[in-house]
Amino acid sequence: MSKTVAAITGVGAYLPDYVLTNAELQKMVDTTDEWIQVRTGISERRILKGEGKATSDMAAKAVENLLKKTNTAAKDIDLLICATVTPDMVFPSTANITCDKAGIRNIPSFDIAAACSGFLYALVTGTQFVQTGLYKKVIVVGADKMSAITDYEDRTTCVLFGDAAAAVLLEPSDSGCGILDHILRSDGSGRAFLHQKAGGSLKPPSHATIDAREHFVYQDGKTVFKFAVTNMADVSAEIMERNGLKGADIAWLVPHQANKRIIDATARRMDVDDSKVMLNIHKYGNTTAATIPLCLWEWENRLKKGDNIILAAFGGGFTWGSVYVKWAY
Ligand code: UT7
Repeated sequence: MSKTVAAITGVGAYLPDYVLTNAELQKMVDTTDEWIQVRTGISERRILKGEGKATSDMAAKAVENLLKKTNTAAKDIDLLICATVTPDMVFPSTANITCDKAGIRNIPSFDIAAACSGFLYALVTGTQFVQTGLYKKVIVVGADKMSAITDYEDRTTCVLFGDAAAAVLLEPSDSGCGILDHILRSDGSGRAFLHQKAGGSLKPPSHATIDAREHFVYQDGKTVFKFAVTNMADVSAEIMERNGLKGADIAWLVPHQANKRIIDATARRMDVDDSKVMLNIHKYGNTTAATIPLCLWEWENRLKKGDNIILAAFGGGFTWGSVYVKWAY
């Protein structure tokens, strides 16, 4: 009998309606459509507008979409994990609030904060509960309202981010398909180059932190770029090698969407053709924990059972990783 593994059996998503274009950003900061497109690959991104709208609103809509598509009742979900760095509140967790809004009651739910690698960390965590036989239906949702922590006076970061949520359902499978391998890494010394300065226990919110605009993303882009290119490519190559996979064996690379140049470098290193790389950064920008499931959602109709898929991410922490998935449907 083959080993039980966790398989992704459905994908749902939510994208806010408002489209923030490069043309509009040109009116807000000293930038150009050309600079943004050449340096990042981004043309537009979605922004969640409206008083009282938070990350959990997008996460709950993605979860509802997932439940409907997979014909799953809310009462049958055993666990929900939310990957986010833009929680509604410091506590309770956005997973708790998402469950409430999506009508999922009395199950364990918690957040995972691993920035742009958050979805991979949450996916691997959810996988363990399914593989051990403890749970049968686990939802992993990646959701970020990056506009809440983006400084629209800082041209070096405000062009990069967008808002979105996307979710997957994990169920046990003995078909040989599912989440077959993973590599997760972190290096906290990287925090110097990508962080939010204030709002945590190190620097609680104060008038001074507000005046200094310290509640926004701070990024030393050049340094993060250097680490991202090397590490995302390294773990992707490593997971292929240890599973005996060559570039031609890979049906899809699903990379975190931070910068098209980082994605291109990873694909080259893996010897994977551009036509097999999921790329939607031009439409949505960097939605942090949502990028990877959002790609799976958008490409879902083109995926085939047995496809070898590599998920790869790099982000704040630093955190990074790769996951080998054999698509299950
Ligand atoms: O998802 C989490 C992980 N994050 C990442 O992976 C992001 C990694 N980093 C990057 O993607 C890139 O570093 C950026 C897209 C953020 C920046 O691209 P870059 O090619 O590294 O540009 P740079 O920071 O070296 O800046 C080049 C120039 C600078 O001007 P000077 O010093 O050469 O005069 C910047 O001030 O471009 C300037 N610049 C801009 N110009 C127009 C920076 N932002 C902008 C802008 N519009 N929006």
